[in-house]
Order: sequence, then structure tokens, then C-alpha cells
Amino acid sequence: MAQCRKHRYLCPALMSRYNFEIPVVFTHRIVFTRNAFAPENPLLADILHEGGGRRACAFIEHAVAAAWPGLTAAVETYFAGLPLNFRGTTVLPGGEAAKADESLVRRVWETLDQAHIDRHSYALAIGGGAFLDAVGFAAATAHRGVRLLRFPTTTLSQDDSGVGVKCAINGYGKKNWIGSFAVPFAVINDFEFLSSQDPANCRAGFIEALKVALVKDPDFFSWIESHLPALAALEPTCLETCVERSALLHARHIASSGDAFESGSSRPLDFGHWAAHKLESLTGYQLPHAPAVAIGLALDTLYSLRAGHLSATAAERILRVLDALQLTTYHPALEWRDESGRRLVHAGLDEFREHLGGQLTILLLQDIGVGINVHHIDEALLDQCIDDLHQRFA
Ligand SMILES: NC(=O)c1ccc[n+]([C@@H]2O[C@H](COP(=O)([O-])OP(=O)(O)OC[C@H]3O[C@@H](n4cnc5c(N)ncnc54)[C@H](O)[C@@H]3O)[C@@H](O)[C@H]2O)c1
Ligand SMILES: [Zn+2]
Repeated sequence: MAQCRKHRYLCPALMSRYNFEIPVVFTHRIVFTRNAFAPENPLLADILHEGGGRRACAFIEHAVAAAWPGLTAAVETYFAGLPLNFRGTTVLPGGEAAKADESLVRRVWETLDQAHIDRHSYALAIGGGAFLDAVGFAAATAHRGVRLLRFPTTTLSQDDSGVGVKCAINGYGKKNWIGSFAVPFAVINDFEFLSSQDPANCRAGFIEALKVALVKDPDFFSWIESHLPALAALEPTCLETCVERSALLHARHIASSGDAFESGSSRPLDFGHWAAHKLESLTGYQLPHAPAVAIGLALDTLYSLRAGHLSATAAERILRVLDALQLTTYHPALEWRDESGRRLVHAGLDEFREHLGGQLTILLLQDIGVGINVHHIDEALLDQCIDDLHQRFA
């Protein structure tokens, strides 16, 4: 008979205890292509054939539908040639506003319900990272999860978020508070979409490629360093190589780290993100994710230097790359303070600690491609780093 810790006597209710291991294996299908909906492109048809299933419907972000006026017709024509019941295309607004509340999620739920999309049917989501997050959350929660086919259309969503296995909307003043882990059925990175982005947005998306190079792959960092003019000019071959290498590094980490659903505290792919998420919410999401990560990454690089982990030479190389990619590393919100004089951005550390379950773990850099987890951040030192950023900006 087991002893009950609380009552310190033999408790009949605790006579039996069983632990079951529940292994679940997902296939994370990721493809890179061009003109995914051209009738002669078999990639999507092959993936759908592999999955079987009965129905499909598509959600297209408004800005993407506007930039590609033939897209809706192309999707419908493509599906007309497949043995699936295609239930139509819905164009919805995207951008960070799509994550501000649950209204877009509800519209997707309603459409999925009306289209009778079941757990063996497909929801296609074509849009930027914010749109994919919101539609993805709706798909992950309808019927406890219908099959999601992601078509990322921005640099950032192709080089990072699209191959991620999570989705979320913002809530309670916090970034990504309402969300879920859900492996998409497939991710189809169609390079054509990248060409209609605003150039500044296209360039800003390189930040996640730089991030993953810094924490995972020094050779990729050197490649970025040696292709800076072409990357800054958005030369298509360089852009696509960078996107693909970054996406695969992210996906490989998710598949092989042993912690795909982030139960542990170590988050290498979140390098620079504690400050980024706080700056986004402080500015009411006026500062988008990619530029916010550029600031967070610069801040944590300087902190790695000032805390004695990273050499000045390595820090300077990183800052030079940020400059060459025309990524701004300062925002006035870094100066906003509470009544006690504490910088508001520092609360991002508290929120990150809470998100991780109580113990703060922040990845800093020891070298390019080599991270180190720390459990304490000295706010006075952090203040000096923000002052450094301000001076560099000035
Ligand atoms: N789920 C994850 O694992 C994960 C990881 C990283 C980031 N994210 C999230 O991704 C979001 C950022 O994604 P983003 O950088 O793609 O920003 P975004 O989705 O806000 O898109 C940026 C802008 O580009 C427009 N746009 C999108 N595709 C276009 C195209 N092809 N042509 C013209 N305009 C286009 C959008 O309407 C928007 O105005 C953030 O909300 C972030 O939290 C999620
Ligand atoms: Zn990010």
C-alpha cells in the first residue's frame, strides 16, 4: 500500500499508480518550389495524394490576393483537376492585426464548419507569418485539429515561422499567449511569393536567418557575411538560398532537439526574442516582429559581450551584418520606464520567466554559432547595453 505524503498514513486511494508512455511521430513535410499552383507543378497534388482525404478549402491573406490577382482562380483550377472536393477560397485580412483578438480565428472556424472540413480534410493558408499563426490556430482547434497546408509568403515566414510547429494569437497584452503546438500537414515554400513583398519587409525577414546562423551554424553566418551586398539588394538566388538554409536549420532543430513542443527551458531559436516580444506589445504591435527581433538580437549580442561571454571582434561582426542588411537596432520604446524608473522592456524578462515555467533561461552567445544558457540577467548591465544601442543609433 502506498504512503500518502499529505496525510502520512497508508491511503487506500493511492493503492495504484500507472504511467504510460505515448510516443507520437509526426512527418514534417517541407518543400521549396515556384508557382505551386501551376497546373504542371505536381508537388501539391503529390502531397495531397499521399494524405488521401476528402475535402479542402483555402484561406488567402488579403494583401497576397491583392498582389497576385490570378491566385484565387489558379488555386481553384488546380483543385479542379484533383480527386478532392474543393470547398472554395476565402480572402481574409492579415498582418499582426489578425492576431490581435479572436475575430479572424472565429471567421476561419465558421468557414471550416460550413465547408465540412473534417480531420482528414485540408485547410490551405496562404499568407505572412501572422496570418499563418491565426489561421493555423483555428485549424489546430477545429475538430481538435484539421490538416493545415501552410503557404508562407514573406521572407520571415518562409525562413522561420512557416516551418515552425506552433501557432498563436496575442492575448492579455502578451505576444502569442493563446496558442497551440500543431505540426502542419505540409509547408510549401513558393519562392514566387517573395517577390511581391515590400523590400524593407523582405529584408527584415533575414533576421531569423541571422539568428539561427548565430546559434547553430557558423558556416551559414560566414555565408551571410560574404553575400551581404547581394542579400541587401534582394538578389533572388541569394534570397532563396538564405531562406532555404534558414528554414532547414529551424526544421532540423525542431525535429532533432528532443523538445519539439518546448517543454524544457532551453530555447535557442528564441535568441533575442524576450526583448523583441516585449517591444512588440509595448508599442501596441506598431513595431513588427522582424524589426523587433533585430533590436532584441543586437541587445543580447551586446549583453553577451558586456557579460564577458563573447569577444568584441565577434560582436562587431554581428552588428556589421545587421547594419549591412539595413536593420535598425534601436527604438524609442527601449527608453520607456515605469514609475520606479525601471525600463519597461525589462518586464519582458519577467514574462519570459513565467512563460518558461518559473526559471529564467536566456540564450546568449559565446561565439558565432555557439550559444550559452544563462539564468540571470543583470538589469544594470542591460541598461548599459541599451545605452550602447542608443549611441550607435545616434
Ligand atoms: N509560429 C511560429 O513558430 C512563429 C515563428 C516566428 C514568427 N512568428 C510570427 O510571425 C509573425 C510575423 O510574420 P511576418 O514577418 O511574415 O509578418 P506579417 O505576417 O505581418 O506580414 C508582413 C506584411 O506583409 C504583407 N504580406 C505578406 N505576404 C506578402 C506578399 N507575398 N506580398 C506582399 N505583401 C505581403 C502582410 O499583409 C503584412 O502587411 C509574427 O506575428 C510572429 O510572432 C511565428
Ligand atoms: Zn521570431
